[in-house]
Amino acid sequence: MAGSNGLHSFGRRYAHITGWGKALPDRIVTNQELEQIVDTTDEWIRSRTGIQQRYIAVDPRENAVTLGTRAAMAALDVADFPVSKLDLIICATSSPAHIFPSTGSLIQDALGAARAGAFDLSAACSGFVYAISIANSMIVAGQAESVLIIGTEVLSRLLDWSDRNTCVLFGDGAGAVLMQASPVPGGVLSTVLGSDGSGGDLLAVPAGGSSIPATLETVASGQHFIKMDGKAVFRFATRVMVEATREALDKAGMGIGDVDLMIPHQANERIIRSSMKQLDLPDDKVFINLYNYGNTSTASIPIALCEAIEQGRLHPNDNLVMVGFGAGLTWAATTVKWAVPGAREVPRWRYSQRQATYSLARVRSRLLRYSRQVENSLTSEEGDALGDVLAQRIEGWRKTREE
Ligand code: ACO
Repeated sequence: MAGSNGLHSFGRRYAHITGWGKALPDRIVTNQELEQIVDTTDEWIRSRTGIQQRYIAVDPRENAVTLGTRAAMAALDVADFPVSKLDLIICATSSPAHIFPSTGSLIQDALGAARAGAFDLSAACSGFVYAISIANSMIVAGQAESVLIIGTEVLSRLLDWSDRNTCVLFGDGAGAVLMQASPVPGGVLSTVLGSDGSGGDLLAVPAGGSSIPATLETVASGQHFIKMDGKAVFRFATRVMVEATREALDKAGMGIGDVDLMIPHQANERIIRSSMKQLDLPDDKVFINLYNYGNTSTASIPIALCEAIEQGRLHPNDNLVMVGFGAGLTWAATTVKWAVPGAREVPRWRYSQRQATYSLARVRSRLLRYSRQVENSLTSEEGDALGDVLAQRIEGWRKTREE
């Protein structure tokens, strides 16, 4: 990669986004279909949120791991990056496949990323930008050369499909980016992270954690579903989107006039338009695609990034701002100097090679599970054998004493 001024900044490291990908379930659910399920109308949903449809994982085999893995594979394809060289996987999710193991670890296994560390990051819809901040710090500090960031959600499984206040808003999907170290100036220029836990109750899944463990009563009273005070979240969102954007630009030494493209968290068109108005950012500098996806939480910004690139909205040296807000309450913003010219032509054989690697990863995972089972059974046989030897010794010692 060549720097904007053609010079390399020797000794310093920068974190660039070099690959991107998205994955969606097959099933689209329109507003008209929701009219059949809850007391709502297409007109209400469009006018209050902008959303027209969303993707929903109706296949029970689809979950945060499967969607996240597909998005990750797409990002590695774009970057033409071998999975064996990955240093770290950060998986931002609000609908993990399990409390533990982490969705990140299961994606690491599915990819066969044998030398990568992996963990989940919980910061709700701000999670993807939080992950960019951590990846950037790891790369700049020399702790990692490559970090795969995934935002993956199957929020439909946490929705009360009889609650019109929430079920019309969310969608399922995943997005991923690969970040790599480079001596070329650019990439992530600044990040801002924020949290105000006093607003934790405004958007929450109350039960299922250690504070309210799952019981028959919590299930019967619907406490495992998303509960939200929409108006309060709306007010919070419009305020922090503006403040976080200004702060991130300030940290990068930029003003609003320097922004080429803003990709905000795709929750509600009215939140985005109100924030952009306060920032004095023209419409053509903002990317909105929530019409087709609804709010996909941690996946919304990387999915939008992929679409923005597909539509030719990002060019080398563009200043990109990504800003998110969500449950916690949390917020996060980042400025990025875009350095990749677009998806590169990757030879077909390299793609096939990577697919073969993923097939091998499945074999590797099975072998590891099998060898662990064998090891366990061997250990218990050894344990039994040792127990027998000890029993014989004790018996012998007892007899000797008796004689
Ligand atoms: N269809 C029809 N009517 C509805 C629906 C619906 N789907 N949902 C609510 N209503 C009704 C309400 O019951 C209310 O009726 P009432 O006046 O008789 O009580 C009326 O519509 C108006 O409700 P409001 O809450 O005033 O509607 P508002 O204009 O605030 O829009 C909305 C509601 C869309 C939820 C908005 O407040 C919002 O988007 N808030 C932010 C939510 C958000 O972004 N959450 C995600 C955060 S990110 C994360 O971490 C997951």
